[in-house]
Amino acid sequence: MDLVDPFGRTIRDLRISVTDRCNFRCTYCMPEEGMTWLPRSEVLTFEEFERLARIFVERFEVDGLRLTGGEPTVRAHLPVLVRKLAALRVPASSSSPLAGRKPDLSITTNGATFRLMAHELHEAGIDRVNISLDTLRADRFLSMTRRDELTRVLDGIEAAKEAGLAPVKINAVVQRGVNDDEIVDLARYGRDHDVEMRFIEFMPLDASGHWMNDQVVSQDEIVAAISAVFPLEPVPARGSAPADRWRYLDGGGLVGVIPTVTKPFCGDCDRVRLTAEGQFRTCLFATTEFCFRTLMRDGASDDDIAVEIQRAVGTKWAGHQINQVTFIRPNRSMSQIGG
Ligand code: GTP
Ligand code: 5AD
Ligand code: SF4
Repeated sequence: MDLVDPFGRTIRDLRISVTDRCNFRCTYCMPEEGMTWLPRSEVLTFEEFERLARIFVERFEVDGLRLTGGEPTVRAHLPVLVRKLAALRVPASSSSPLAGRKPDLSITTNGATFRLMAHELHEAGIDRVNISLDTLRADRFLSMTRRDELTRVLDGIEAAKEAGLAPVKINAVVQRGVNDDEIVDLARYGRDHDVEMRFIEFMPLDASGHWMNDQVVSQDEIVAAISAVFPLEPVPARGSAPADRWRYLDGGGLVGVIPTVTKPFCGDCDRVRLTAEGQFRTCLFATTEFCFRTLMRDGASDDDIAVEIQRAVGTKWAGHQINQVTFIRPNRSMSQIGG
């Protein structure tokens, strides 16, 4: 049975934040110090994540599961969870191209320890990976992430390719005056290393609350900067994915831009989110959550949970209102939602 929201959008994609912890402190996401981590007892167990994912996949034909964090790879024994999720099957009767098969399993990581895990994660059932890389300069990497890990991240990207994860997409959050002078260098890196570079407009989800509209570098500016050096043509039909894509005219592959702020794609949104402590969110910018942890731990049946999922999806709004006076910043930052 499809899970359809009040605006007629069918939910197909569940993003699962497996931990709120991270080994980086990216300035656009977390404060340097003073994050309070969830107590372990509040974080869902693998069995609880699996149970919820099963209901989404088997009852509601959700055919994409993405693991996020914090940093998902800092959760101990992550491949154990991946194996559980890889055993799920999209119903054979579903209209999904994955009917009768396992859901698309992906992960979003900062890549720092990916060399150690890529192969095992792939074997466990991860199909593809998105890795964050906002700069190619070691000093800037240190100031943006507060960790001196550029070399290990670049190696993590190579490890992802070697492990056979495909496609490997690279996420760069662009901030004016911080790394916008590297747009072309990062695009060149994507071309040279055969990975899909995606530039992300900076969103008001930084823990420090310092986001200002003038720090956002727009999709139009990003595309103009790249195409001045490497001519581009648009790839039609984005579907429900947040990235618009372009093709290099010389055959150098694809590049994407995620234009949350200047061209919101909420009308095509097919995703919902589960936080590490089992709060269900129908939007990245949602201001209400539904506590599935309490429900499960109080003994709810799968039927009860399915009813609550439908009720929650029934509250999904048309979209965020960044840049309008009505916009309310969620009281969680990116690392606590899962991106
Ligand atoms: P693909 O399935 O590979 O397209 O994944 P993705 O781009 O959805 O996932 P990823 O975790 O790499 O996210 C990249 C950026 O897109 C991050 O900054 C996310 O916060 C942002 N993003 C992902 N989903 C949404 C969404 O539903 N709404 C908005 N506004 N941004 C999103
Ligand atoms: N704006 C846009 N993207 C962000 N990310 C983290 N914080 C922000 C923000 N404030 C990105 C990360 C990662 C993905 C999950 O979200 O770079 O690639
Ligand atoms: Fe979906 Fe909310 Fe993102 Fe819009 S802002 S695309 S509604 S998650």
